[in-house]
Amino acid sequence: MKIDDFYNDYSRNYEKVIRLPLVDRFMINRDRAVFDFLPNSKDSVILDFGCGTGYYLMPLVKSAKKIVAIDASKGMIEVLRKRINKYRIKKIKTRIASIENFETKEKFDLILSIGVFNYLDDIELVLSKTYNLLKRGGTFIFTVPDRNNVFGWLYAMFWRIFNVKNKLYNKNDLVDALENTGFEVVGVKNDKNNFPTFHITIKAVK
Ligand SMILES: C[S@@+](CC[C@H](N)C(=O)[O-])C[C@H]1O[C@@H](n2cnc3c(N)ncnc32)[C@H](O)[C@@H]1O
Repeated sequence: MKIDDFYNDYSRNYEKVIRLPLVDRFMINRDRAVFDFLPNSKDSVILDFGCGTGYYLMPLVKSAKKIVAIDASKGMIEVLRKRINKYRIKKIKTRIASIENFETKEKFDLILSIGVFNYLDDIELVLSKTYNLLKRGGTFIFTVPDRNNVFGWLYAMFWRIFNVKNKLYNKNDLVDALENTGFEVVGVKNDKNNFPTFHITIKAVK
């Protein structure tokens, strides 16, 4: 099954599922890891790669100057657009696009990609794209499921039921890939310092 088809169907229930008991235990820890890593800056220009319904963007709206939110799934973007209209948020620009095909001349202070790189085929290519889209000194925060975590394996099995490709990652491989791209890795959280979680959350700076 193609990922955008899956998320088109799932879009209306996505935020209900992440609030289910047990699932929310994992989410709370990932949220904490992501929000701990956010730079304390104002007037940032932010890009969210695979923004989904905008779950991670809402708390950032107040302090951001502009947010560009892209996702391959029309359904997920439509949930976000409804929310933007409901709260009359002018700062968020949405685009239905895959990360691989996304083009812009704009440069960003912060790029987020939460729970998305596990669906991508060529992570090196996307890391280099991310690097080029950041301003010097800009921050990249992303999460992927952990290959060295039993919950990561359970998560991957869930996706296999739906016949959706979903990769697991190893922390050291990610750090190497980021450093080879030119990033400086400034923080990593996984089950060693953020239990229970099946995510590796990484903060890297250009
Ligand atoms: C688990 S959801 C995460 C959404 C959001 N980042 C969050 O944490 O709430 C994964 C999202 O990645 C999007 N996605 C997957 N592959 C993508 C790609 N190649 N380009 C853009 N979006 C993609 C899906 O459509 C989906 O909305």
